[in-house]
Amino acid sequence: MPTPHPHKVIYDTDPGVDDAMALYFALAHPAIDVLGITTTFGNVTVEQAAINALYLTSIAGKNVPVTQGVATPWCKPAEAPPAHIHGADGLGNLPVRLPSKAQLDPRSSAQFIVDMACAQPGEITLVAVGPLGNLSLALKLEPKLPQLLRQVILMGGTILESGNVSPVAEANVWNDPHAADQVFTAGWKLTMVGLDVTHRVILPVALFKKIAAQHQHVATDTLLHAVEFYAQHYSGLYPHVAEIHGCFAHDLLAFIFLVNPELFTLEHGRIRVATEGLAQGQTIMKRKDFIDYPHAGWGQEQPVTQVCMQVQAQACNAVLENTLMGSWLK
Ligand code: BDR
Ligand code: CA
Repeated sequence: MPTPHPHKVIYDTDPGVDDAMALYFALAHPAIDVLGITTTFGNVTVEQAAINALYLTSIAGKNVPVTQGVATPWCKPAEAPPAHIHGADGLGNLPVRLPSKAQLDPRSSAQFIVDMACAQPGEITLVAVGPLGNLSLALKLEPKLPQLLRQVILMGGTILESGNVSPVAEANVWNDPHAADQVFTAGWKLTMVGLDVTHRVILPVALFKKIAAQHQHVATDTLLHAVEFYAQHYSGLYPHVAEIHGCFAHDLLAFIFLVNPELFTLEHGRIRVATEGLAQGQTIMKRKDFIDYPHAGWGQEQPVTQVCMQVQAQACNAVLENTLMGSWLK
């Protein structure tokens, strides 16, 4: 039975393997209605991100608008995409792709976000799982955006867990720290799903094999291929991940937070992003709000972010399995 009031979502993404699993989770979940996919550079170029979003939706038989967004960070020079993690094509170097006639929505990602938020004020959740340039540009186009969106849930940053691109920085924030600082200080209802929780949830390749066997469908075969590539990277890096032969759940957890927030333990604090120097990309949280620091940038005028600090990992695995094993593909 369809859920009477599903969460209306715009998915801002740089697909990317974990972005692809998160997308299929969102498309499969009865309580999520994906209104559009806005792409950005990150795991791949923005052109490839848009191609991947169109391809993933089209092979799954889903007709969702896809836009192309920002191609580079705001201030720092662009870096080469991490082909060793996601594959040169972002989907684990697919050996073949089916032909697809799917076309991009001609608007920029930022314009699409603004148009949708203005058309349905207070109704849309923005789930952002890549570098945050599209949100930052959308804020410039429409400064009232924080009041027009229901909430923003982002995968990015880290508070206590070590970073994944430097000892203190997580990749999405690192890739555009200036945009990220704007997002953390914009004043929307904001939830951060960072490495503190995404490094606790390991998804075994065996689960994606089971899902592919269940559906016998090009979409789940494509996902399995991509996850196998991705898991090789993580299993090579972390012995405890190799034991399970799996990968971190990263972007998926932003959607699991949307539908099952009770699986997460939260902390609240004001977050700023270091934009320069050795700590570039660090998400710094003011954890003792009773202290009135003498330096600018930490006052009560800075908005508060709710941050996921702990997660029930096994339950997340089960939510993923139940959702993707259901009948969501034609
Ligand atoms: C984040 O960086 C990207 O590589 C992943 O898709 C995820 O969004 C994890 O740090
Ligand atoms: Ca991503």
